[in-house]
Amino acid sequence: MQDHQDAFHEWAKIYGDVMPLKVLGKSLVVLSSEAAAIDLLEKRGAKYSDRPSIPMMELLEWDKLLVFIPYGKEFQASRRLFQDQLSKKQCTSYHDRIVGHARTMAEKIKGEPSAYEKHIQYFVTSVIADVTYGHQVSGADDQHVHISNFVIEFSDTIGTQGANLLDIFPFLKHLPAWVPGAWFIRYAQGTITIVGMSYVLLTSHFNSETSTEYKKLETACFEEVRREVAADTATPSFVSNHLKNMLEKDDPNIDDILRLKRSGLHFYSAGIETLLTVISTFLFTMLRHPEVQKKAQEEIESVLGKDRLPDFSDRASLPYVEAVLQETMRWHPPSPLAIPHKVTSDDSYRNVFIPKGSTVIANVRSMTLDEKTWHNPREFIPERYLPSPLGQGEPFAKGIFGFGRRACPGKYLAEGTVWIVVVTILAGFDIRPVQDEFGEDVIPPLRFITSITSRPAPFECRLVPRIS
Ligand code: HEM
Repeated sequence: MQDHQDAFHEWAKIYGDVMPLKVLGKSLVVLSSEAAAIDLLEKRGAKYSDRPSIPMMELLEWDKLLVFIPYGKEFQASRRLFQDQLSKKQCTSYHDRIVGHARTMAEKIKGEPSAYEKHIQYFVTSVIADVTYGHQVSGADDQHVHISNFVIEFSDTIGTQGANLLDIFPFLKHLPAWVPGAWFIRYAQGTITIVGMSYVLLTSHFNSETSTEYKKLETACFEEVRREVAADTATPSFVSNHLKNMLEKDDPNIDDILRLKRSGLHFYSAGIETLLTVISTFLFTMLRHPEVQKKAQEEIESVLGKDRLPDFSDRASLPYVEAVLQETMRWHPPSPLAIPHKVTSDDSYRNVFIPKGSTVIANVRSMTLDEKTWHNPREFIPERYLPSPLGQGEPFAKGIFGFGRRACPGKYLAEGTVWIVVVTILAGFDIRPVQDEFGEDVIPPLRFITSITSRPAPFECRLVPRIS
């Protein structure tokens, strides 16, 4: 089946970068250029920052998670929590701790190369647990590892089971056959939602014990930090920094406290799978482009020598590694259709009438294939970003983390986290293909699993240590 984002891309070529559609009588607008997304989602952000309504979300009690909150006061209060503690400057204060986790990851992979995926996931979980709660993950039995497994298993299920939704909701069979990426359109229209799906999947694939565990952990993590803050022993983190500020007030507001408690575990649902998606695409592209891998390793060696692993102070001196990361996210955007926005009042743009209530989709996948901005956009070419004469001086893609007032508040944390993984693996390991029974290299084909995020279909590789 053709991916919905590719279908939108083909349509955009015919109908243009502002494409109004009617699906089941509802209005949908697909934006397929950065210019249109910036004009509407950013410059007219006051109108374009709502989310399509999501029935059934109460069932999971997810309706108060920032990503689903309608535009308004509660959204602003929740959003402020994330923005205050995830600014570029604030994220820099976590860099040393993130580097420490990356070094541990490198050691673990060296000791057990065949389990590299497990160790990368452990690293991502350690970063999220540390930044969110100041919690140091203590081994495979740590509750935070269980939650991380839960989130991954859940996303995998959504990714691989999307096509089976017609079995769960037979009435959807009546949708016109031409609707591209059928389940996503239904999601965007609110006739079926990711949360609706989640509910079905939760009840059908996960026992209630697991979801109760998720709720229990939310309380346990929060209460642990609350005790540490009271005893003045808390490590600075998203929750402890906010809690300290709130408790300094004479009469902390209960709504603020509950909002903060809810926000903590949102880091796991919003961050873990997205981070792993980018890391997986990076390994995938390195297998397919050994010449790029070699060039990035040569750059690292020329700056750091062979004896030490990189840290964030090296980032500006490694433009090719930066280009590899940015090209990874442009070449295969981790969130190809971002998350739909909704318009709160009638509008018109370039002679297209956009009625109040329309769902607006930023077609990031199509944007990153713009031939006017990137030459051979379907090719993986990190050099494109380097200034002339080394490259073409092409710009980084803008929409990877969304647009406007709903753009990803975890962007700086995410970029830093994936950068340290990319540079640590390149410095410490050769990423090599596995061999088949005839001794031939197995290069993974271009196959992807797409739901809200899109990542390569499972593939194998070997991480071979390069330095002692
Ligand atoms: C590489 C990793 C990540 C990618 C590619 C990514 C991408 C995105 C995208 C495309 C959106 C929707 C933007 C829009 O509606 O225009 C989003 C929203 C969001 N992201 Fe991320 N994200 C990543 C990591 C993270 C992390 C680590 C966090 C942790 C705090 C996070 C928290 C959120 C939240 C809370 C929202 C909802 C914002 C809102 O509705 O106002 N993300 N992300």
